[in-house]
Amino acid sequence: MPDSRRPVWWAALGGLLALALGTASVVAQSAQETAREIERYREAVADSSPGELWEARGEDLWKMPRGPRNVSLERCDLGQGPGVVAGALARLPRWFADADRVMDLETRLLHCMVTLQGLDPAVLRRQPFGNGEQRSDFEALSAWIAAQSRGMTLAPPLDHPAERAAWRLGRELFFVRGGTHDFACTTCHAQSGRRIRLQELPNLSRPEEARRVLGTWPAYRVSQGEMRTLQWRMNDCFRQQRFPDLVFGSEVSVALVSYLLHNASGAALAAPGVRR
Ligand code: HEC
Repeated sequence: MPDSRRPVWWAALGGLLALALGTASVVAQSAQETAREIERYREAVADSSPGELWEARGEDLWKMPRGPRNVSLERCDLGQGPGVVAGALARLPRWFADADRVMDLETRLLHCMVTLQGLDPAVLRRQPFGNGEQRSDFEALSAWIAAQSRGMTLAPPLDHPAERAAWRLGRELFFVRGGTHDFACTTCHAQSGRRIRLQELPNLSRPEEARRVLGTWPAYRVSQGEMRTLQWRMNDCFRQQRFPDLVFGSEVSVALVSYLLHNASGAALAAPGVRR
């Protein structure tokens, strides 16, 4: 991030603080005003998102020889041919013949790190998400790869039977209730206009609403100072749902992502976006 852009970022941070301090008075504010504030804040940070730092690191990680085999990810096939990153996100998740399964972006990256670079999947799965101290390679790589599809239209394929099966499983999982609280995704995500702690809770089964948010994932999460991927979002919502830990890159996680991204098909990609 060039120095000249820093002031904009700091001003935006100040804005966030003001927003946070203002929460007490939010009760008096109408929900619409709050939504407008958040939108203004998003616009303010959009020009100078610290997400650029993740993108830069992601590009380095893609090109850097690593792992026991000391090779880069530049031969990784994200669905558009080995090494092609432009437009890859627009056509994911998809079925991959070499693995005979449907993969989303992070799952495919995991696959390439294991098969090309010889990295240990158990070790990679141990820290798929950054925690403020240690950054995640998946989050950086996803940010950079997503940026190479900016402006394109989201159109994940649904031709292969495995792609249709993943979508169907995702839909089932979205509506199924369970756990100690008997929650489903729909408990929190099937009404329009809901919000928790200033954050909108979109109705993700409606294409208009799914399109509005899902084209901006992965997204920089201001409150955590981390770039977050959809695998992280699924994991965190599983936790909110009081479900058992969601395994990174598992069939269940990919099915949920498939369902959501198919609902959002037709969205203009604008990732990485920004969240509270
Ligand atoms: C108990 C409530 C709750 C449940 C259940 C829940 N979520 Fe969420 N979800 C949230 C909250 C709260 C947020 C926003 C968090 C934030 O950014 O502050 C969110 C955000 C999201 C987002 C991101 C929306 C955006 O703004 O881009 C997606 C996608 C999502 N959830 C999917 C799911 C799926 C899929 C399930 C079921 C596996 C699920 N959620 C279950 C509470 C829930």
